[in-house]
Amino acid sequence: METKKEYKRYLVTSALPYANGPVHIGHLAGVYVPSDIYVRYLRLRGRDVVWVCGSDEHGVPITIKARKEGVTPQDVVDKYNDIIKRSFEGLGISFDIYSRTTSPTHYQTASEFFRTLHEKGIFTEATSQQYYDEEAKTFLADRYITGTCPHCQSEGAYGDQCEKCGSTLNPTDLINPKSMISGSAPVMKETTHWYLPLDRYEGKLREWILEGHKEWKTNVYGQCKSWLDMGLQPRAVSRDLNWGIPVPVEGAEGKVLYVWFDAPIGYISATKDLTPEWEKYWKSEDTKMVHFIGKDNIVFHCIVFPTMLMAHGDYILPENVPANEFLNLEGDKISTSKNWAVWLNEYLEEMPGKQDVLRYVLCANAPETKDNDFTWKDYQARNNNELVAVLGNFVNRALVLTHKYYGGVVPEAGELTDYDKEILAELPKIKVALEENIETYRFREALKEAMNIARLGNKYLADTEPWKVVKTDPERVKTILNVALQIVANTAVAIEPFMPFSAEKITSMLAVDRLQWDMIGRTDIVPAGHTIGKAELLFEKIEDEVIERQVKKLADAKAANLAANAEVPEQKESVTFDDFGKMDIRVSTVVAAEKVAKTKKLLKLTVDTGIDTRTIVSGIAEYYTPEELVGRQILVLVNLLPRELKGITSQGMILMSADATGRLTLLAPTDKVPNGSQVG
Ligand code: MF3
Ligand code: ZN
Repeated sequence: METKKEYKRYLVTSALPYANGPVHIGHLAGVYVPSDIYVRYLRLRGRDVVWVCGSDEHGVPITIKARKEGVTPQDVVDKYNDIIKRSFEGLGISFDIYSRTTSPTHYQTASEFFRTLHEKGIFTEATSQQYYDEEAKTFLADRYITGTCPHCQSEGAYGDQCEKCGSTLNPTDLINPKSMISGSAPVMKETTHWYLPLDRYEGKLREWILEGHKEWKTNVYGQCKSWLDMGLQPRAVSRDLNWGIPVPVEGAEGKVLYVWFDAPIGYISATKDLTPEWEKYWKSEDTKMVHFIGKDNIVFHCIVFPTMLMAHGDYILPENVPANEFLNLEGDKISTSKNWAVWLNEYLEEMPGKQDVLRYVLCANAPETKDNDFTWKDYQARNNNELVAVLGNFVNRALVLTHKYYGGVVPEAGELTDYDKEILAELPKIKVALEENIETYRFREALKEAMNIARLGNKYLADTEPWKVVKTDPERVKTILNVALQIVANTAVAIEPFMPFSAEKITSMLAVDRLQWDMIGRTDIVPAGHTIGKAELLFEKIEDEVIERQVKKLADAKAANLAANAEVPEQKESVTFDDFGKMDIRVSTVVAAEKVAKTKKLLKLTVDTGIDTRTIVSGIAEYYTPEELVGRQILVLVNLLPRELKGITSQGMILMSADATGRLTLLAPTDKVPNGSQVG
């Protein structure tokens, strides 16, 4: 263990999310929930802390998204910056500033940073051959070139990666490369770029990380070690692109700073926009800087950005980089492009008032040491069995009994029993465990400790049974409820970093002032004679149907994504007009529907065809329930020869569309028409 240094202040940063889509639960569990817990804890302790974040608004994916949607890159980042910023606020993510890398301060700060390194002669320059689109007169970023994958032969592989087989590619690996801008075949052309010579900093980095920061998380330390052991290469810090911060030197027309060069400087720009005292945070060895990131950002925050900071010379290095692994969703990797995600903005709309439930579940399942899985079933179970049954139940019982027996006035405690003392003696121990865990970035463990206070309170009430004792020894009940209310107040403080909305509710129900960390362990937070407020429920049970709706939404997203990427079947052989004329298709109404026993796919429908009422067996049970079909108009091929299905004679066929994945949808007239109307 390193000796603990006393720091005067903290500078906490969280990875700047790309402004090309909303934030999802993977981002939250990996970065924003843990950093919010950490910062809220520091604030409760009265520490001097600033926490900066903002949108990462440059880079090729944003230009591609803009092109696809027919808008400008600025439109794209304006839209998502707004969505992201508001949804963070909605979840109580309490940045001191949420800035953006298109801000004037940032342009100036990043340009100045580059110029300083340039003037110090840090960069090397090198010329290389790169693909160029002669029609569009522009160099092509790897992502702007498509072609055939040399490994799996599939079309549409990108210059950096084939999404079909997953292999990493160079643009020159592609067979028949094409520019995505003009569609023409690109040509090779010379271009010059500036490089950050990481190789020259290898020794310093080894000493700083491998010797100096053995306490870093195993996953972080391990990744750094393997990068360093492989040997570092100079890295280009400029790009040929028309979206980004122009390279601020003579003769650099058409070149911008590489997004991973400008983005981390965004932490500095954001601090400048936050406070005129920004230098105190960035340039003093008394500041503890901590970067919260996901594992795909490790090399940039542990190697590239620190090299930039060392090369510049004015700035401190991070004291820790507690990167998390990834969160999966229902067993599959979260994917923005496949729409396999729970989006924060949608969650806040669809589950109003449930911010703390999400924060709780994401922290309890945080991928701190390995990838983890989010499932809606687990979300429901944790809400019902932990938040409702433990936390909500304890707080509610203590408050309700205080109202019932004492009209909401906190009773005076008499002499404490040994058991009371034993219970209360747990509080300072939990406080120490909480501190140790939070300060070493073990938030899952910390959350368990915070919940242990509520567990303790529940146990205390269950063991002392004030609702029974009140009949025989009302004096004793005063002590019991006084103690219980102190434990409620302790709970509020302990859960504040994790569940600030609930902590706030408890605080206002207890009618106490500002919470402070050192209240944990104290037994005089709510004094005798003090009047508490109305008791309200902290959490409510989440029913199956709420969860089923979310699960269905994901299933729909998966189906839509499969269908969008599947190939449409080729056109069938031609038929004559007469061939078609033989089909007798009628508008009909479903009058009854039921499942066919022992089958998964079949429904037995009774339909009014206008000609008669008949029975049809149809394979649509996976897509429609019997209830939603009754009363609907549909199309029926009435002159199909009858068929026997599961012992039922089916007289006709229901017309449906099937998408490329086989998903079925009923067809119907767009207006109501009489049954028996002919289709043709
Ligand atoms: N936008 C990047 C990502 O989402 C993170 C940038 S972090 C910064 O992976 F330090 F560069 F800002
Ligand atoms: Zn491939």
